Amino acid sequence: MPASKIDSSKAAGVAAPASAGPGAPSPSIDPRYHRVFPSILDAIGDTPVVRLNRVARDLKSTVYAKVEAYNPAGSVKDRIALHIIERAEARGELKPGATIIEATSGNTGAGLAMVAALKGYKTIFVMPDKQSEEKRAALRAWGAQVVITPTNVDAEDPRSYYSTARRLVAETPNSFYANQYHNADNPESHYLTTGPELYRQLAGEIDVFIAGVGTGGTISGIGRYLKEQNPKIQIVGVDPVGSLYYDYFHSGQLTQPHTYVLEGIGEDFLPSTMDFQYVDDVVRVNDKECFQMTRRLVREEGLYVGGSCGAAVAGALKYLRRHDREGLRAVVLLPDSATRYMSKVFNDAWMRENGFLEPETSLGHVRDLVEERTARKLVSVRAEATVPEAVGVLKLHGISQVPVVNDGKIVGVLFEKRLLERALEGGRSDVPVGELVDASYCTVDPDTEVTVLTELFRRFKVAVVLGEKNVPVDIITRIDLIDYISKANARRL
Ligand SMILES: Cc1ncc(COP(=O)(O)O)c(C=O)c1O
Repeated sequence: MPASKIDSSKAAGVAAPASAGPGAPSPSIDPRYHRVFPSILDAIGDTPVVRLNRVARDLKSTVYAKVEAYNPAGSVKDRIALHIIERAEARGELKPGATIIEATSGNTGAGLAMVAALKGYKTIFVMPDKQSEEKRAALRAWGAQVVITPTNVDAEDPRSYYSTARRLVAETPNSFYANQYHNADNPESHYLTTGPELYRQLAGEIDVFIAGVGTGGTISGIGRYLKEQNPKIQIVGVDPVGSLYYDYFHSGQLTQPHTYVLEGIGEDFLPSTMDFQYVDDVVRVNDKECFQMTRRLVREEGLYVGGSCGAAVAGALKYLRRHDREGLRAVVLLPDSATRYMSKVFNDAWMRENGFLEPETSLGHVRDLVEERTARKLVSVRAEATVPEAVGVLKLHGISQVPVVNDGKIVGVLFEKRLLERALEGGRSDVPVGELVDASYCTVDPDTEVTVLTELFRRFKVAVVLGEKNVPVDIITRIDLIDYISKANARRL
C-alpha cells in the first residue's frame, strides 16, 4: 500500500469518547491533533498502528499491529470500561457513590478503576490466583479492593471468580456489576471506537483482522464493524490450547477445558459477548509459542507488549502462512503492555522453570503423522445409526472408537467402552448412537503442530482431524502418536 494512503495522523483518528465539561479546552484547540484533553478519559483510544517488520519477515503479506498499550490505563480494556460505565450512568443503573464490582483478569479492572477514580465510584475486583502479582498491585494502586479466588475450579463452583463476584454484588449495597462477559456494551465499545479507528487508519485496506479471544468483545465488536464496511474482510480469532473456543468453532462441541498459563485470552465457558457470526476462522496457539513471540515483539520490534500480544501475533502468523500472498494486508490487535508480566514472561527463571525457553524440537505437523501412518480411510457412523449397526462397524474394522457425523459434521466420538456400559446397564439397543457420543476428543487440522497434539493428548483420548469446511478426514489415537514419536526419535539417533 502506498504510504500516503495510510492515515497515521492523530487528527484523522476517530474521536475518543468525549466527556467534555467544565475545564474543556477552548474550541480552537482540536484535542485529537494537539493531544490536550479535559481529562485522562478523553485520551482513551486513537492508539497507533505499527507495521511488524521483523517477526513477519518470511511472509509476502504486510502485517500491522494496533498497539492498545497506548491507552491511559495500559490496555484495550480502557475502552470497554469507559463505555460500560457511561452507558450504565445513562440508563440510571450506576448511581453516585456506587461500588463497581467485576470479575477481571486485571486489565478491565485497571480501566474500570481509572474511570471510577475520576468519577468518584468505589471498586472491588475478583481475580483468579494465576494472575500476576503486578496486576493485583496495579489495581490496588488505583484504590481498588482485590479479592483472589482459586483458578482450578469450575465456573459454576461457588469459589470461582464468577460466582464470587456475583455473591459480592448481592451482598454490597448500591453496587453495580460491570459483567464484561455478558454486557453488550463491551462489544459495542469496539464497534463504536476500535473498529472505525482501525478502518480509517488503514484507509479501509484490510484483508484480515486477527485478535485473541477472551470475552470476545474485541473480535465481535471490531468484526461487526469491519464486516459492515466490507464483508470480504476475514476475521480470525486466536485461542490458547486448554480453552474451548477452537473446538467449539470447528466442531460445535464444548470440550472439557483445562488450565493453561497464558493470561487474558481463552475461556472455559461461552460468554454472551462472543458473537461467532463475525468470525471466519479460529487458530490455536500454545503457551510456549505465545511467550516466545511476546519476547520477540519486544526485542525485535521494540513493542513493549504483554503475553496475549505474543499469542495474537503467533496465531496471526499461523493463519497467514496458510493464506499468504503478495499484497495481502493483515492487522493484529495487541491488547496490553509488558509492564504487567515482568515476573513471568520477561523473567528467564520463570520461563525456564516452565519449559518455555527450551528450543522447540520440531516433530512436524499432523499432516506428516497422517501421511506417515499406513494409509486408511476414515470410518464414521451416522448419528441416527443404531447401537448394533455401530457395533458392526467397530467389529468389521477392528477399531475401538468411531467418529459420529451428521450432515458431514462431527457430533462426537463413540467409544466401545460406552457401548459396553450401555449393554451392562441393559439399555435399549435401538437408540441412535448420536445420543451416546463422548466429548473427550479434540479437533485438530493438518497444520496443527505435533507438539500441540501431545499437549492435547494429556486431556483427550483421540483427536479428530478436520479438513476443508470442517469435515472430519481422520482420527488419531494415542498409540498413533506414540508410534510416530518413536519413529521420529529413532531417526534422530
Ligand atoms: C491481556 C488481554 N488480552 C486479550 C483479552 C481479550 O479481549 P476480549 O475480552 O475483548 O476478547 C483480554 C481480556 O480480558 C486481556 O486481558
